[in-house]
Amino acid sequence: MTKLAIGIDIGGSGIKAAVVDLENGELYSERVKLATPEGGKPADIVAVCKTLLDTLDEDKVLSVGICFPAVVRNGVTMSAANVSDAWIGLDAAGLFSEALGTQIIVLNDADAAGVAEMAFGSGQSKSGLVIMTTLGTGIGSAIFYNQVLIPNSELGHLDIGKVENIETYASSAAMERENLTFGQWANRLSIFFEHLEKIFNPDLFIVGGGISKDHEEFLPLMNLHTPIVPAVTKNAAGIIGAALLAGNQSVGEMGRPIRRVL
Ligand code: BGC
Repeated sequence: MTKLAIGIDIGGSGIKAAVVDLENGELYSERVKLATPEGGKPADIVAVCKTLLDTLDEDKVLSVGICFPAVVRNGVTMSAANVSDAWIGLDAAGLFSEALGTQIIVLNDADAAGVAEMAFGSGQSKSGLVIMTTLGTGIGSAIFYNQVLIPNSELGHLDIGKVENIETYASSAAMERENLTFGQWANRLSIFFEHLEKIFNPDLFIVGGGISKDHEEFLPLMNLHTPIVPAVTKNAAGIIGAALLAGNQSVGEMGRPIRRVL
């Protein structure tokens, strides 16, 4: 029997969801997307998630995982990037679970993307220290040691040299905003990745986010000691990772061994 779960990826501009096949990490349904409501307030975002869930799972039988651009500790959102500040200190897991009528797991979006990549993408069977970064409106990060997630790293908010909050300088949104060429952007990214190399000495960098489809344009321009590869799961990574974590609970009950990552 195919094992399925739903992942929802909440971002500053869009909320995306799909049913995911937990055996191979592929999307089982089409990906549905709605705009993030203006202001990104909790009640408005919950309402959009409800609409998406109704579309994907009328009978409400599947587990649901939600990923979010914030530090998430025990289901509580501790920060808010590109959404309302009302999320800070909110029991998001409790709120979603009550409103959607099912137990919901909430985690950071980059952590979710990393979980997907380690399970089904470029991080498969990689040991040692792997750092996944997502390049988009912001810069998200997920750190794994021997496949185990160390949650809630916020490497995109590092101050590096004269640059405060590196994501405002080196995200793909910054490239668009400032009309940078890939060459100019790769120089900015190098500042970020060289700094990470200095601190972490990782074994592998994985680069995700929508822009990673253009990896040939910028990854070869960086001169790093650490191997750096594009993510395989690209835009759907957050959905897949969130679904995987949510679904693993019930998969576990069905007797399949699971690896706890949180
Ligand atoms: C947030 C992170 C998030 C990343 C990507 C950053 O601004 O602080 O939590 O993972 O954006 O969405």
